[in-house]
Amino acid sequence: MDCKLFMVKVSYEQKPFRREVMRTYGASVTPSPSETTEVGKKILAEHPGTNGSLGCAISEAVEVAVSTPGYRYVLGSVLNQVLLHQSIIGLETKAAFDKIGVKPDMIIGCAGGGSNLGGLIAPFMGEKLRGENDYEIVAVEPASCPSFTRGVYAYDFADTGMVCPLAKMYTLGSDFIPSPNHAGGLRYHGMSPILSELYDQGLMRAVTATQTEVFEAAETFARCEGILPAPESSHAIKAAIDEALKCKETGEEKTILFGLTGTGYFDLYAYQKFNDGEMDDYIPTDEELAKYREKLPKID
Ligand SMILES: Cc1ncc(COP(=O)(O)O)c(C=O)c1O
Repeated sequence: MDCKLFMVKVSYEQKPFRREVMRTYGASVTPSPSETTEVGKKILAEHPGTNGSLGCAISEAVEVAVSTPGYRYVLGSVLNQVLLHQSIIGLETKAAFDKIGVKPDMIIGCAGGGSNLGGLIAPFMGEKLRGENDYEIVAVEPASCPSFTRGVYAYDFADTGMVCPLAKMYTLGSDFIPSPNHAGGLRYHGMSPILSELYDQGLMRAVTATQTEVFEAAETFARCEGILPAPESSHAIKAAIDEALKCKETGEEKTILFGLTGTGYFDLYAYQKFNDGEMDDYIPTDEELAKYREKLPKID
C-alpha cells in the first residue's frame, strides 16, 4: 500500500527523526506547503517562504487523496473518530485506577488538535456528565498557539486551503501559522469540536505555557523519572508540576493524572536548542490574532 504524507515544513526540518521513522515504515514524506499540489502552490504564492502549518498539510493531503485513484485521506487529530480511538487511552487509564481503588482529582493533557486529551478524559467525562463523579480537567496549550484561551468559538475551516468542511470549534482562524521559532509542537489553529463544546460549557479549563517553561519541565521530569518526554507531552508535565507545587503550598492532597503522549528522542534538536540557551518564546499580540479572526467565514 502506498502511503503519502504531508508534513508541516517546519516540523520536517526541526524533527527529521520523526520524518525518518515514517520513511523507514514505507511512507513518502513531502514538506508542506509544496509545489506538488495546486493548493500548495496557491498557499506559497500567498505566503512566500512560509514554514507551513497543519492546516496547509491537511489541504494538500486532501487534494492528493481526492485526485489519486485508490487513495483515502486520514486525519490524525481533531475529528470525532480520532478522539474515539484515542479513548482506549482513557479506558485503560480508568481501569488501572479502578484496579488500585484510586480516583484522580485532576486530569491534565496537552492539547494540539485535542485528540489525546479527548481520549484520555472520555470515560471520566462520562462520569462527570452523569453526575457520578467530579474531575477537574485541564487542557494545556502553547502560549504561541493559544486556540482555547485566546481563540473564538466559531465555525471555521479545518485547513488553510479551505477545502474541508466547516467545524464549530475554538479557533485562531485557519490562516494562523505559529511563529517559526516554535519547537514545542501543538501548532494547530483550532481545537476538537467535542473539546470545544465541553470547554464552552465550563466542563474543563485551559491554560497556556511558553516553550521555555515547557522544556524546563521536561528537563525536571527527565531528571526525576528517567524518561525523556516529547515536547508536546511536556506541556501537560509543566501544568502537573505547577498543580503539585500548589498542593505543596496549601497542604491539600490531590491525585493528579496527566497524559504522557510520546518520547522526546525524536526531538533532540529542540532539546539541543534549549540546552544551548538558544530557545526563546513568541506570544502573538492581540492585534495579530485579531487580523486572523477577521478572516473567519461569515455565517448567518
Ligand atoms: C507526541 C505528541 N503528543 C501530543 C500531540 C497533540 O496532538 P493532539 O492534541 O491531537 O492529541 C502531538 C501532536 O502532534 C504529538 O506529536
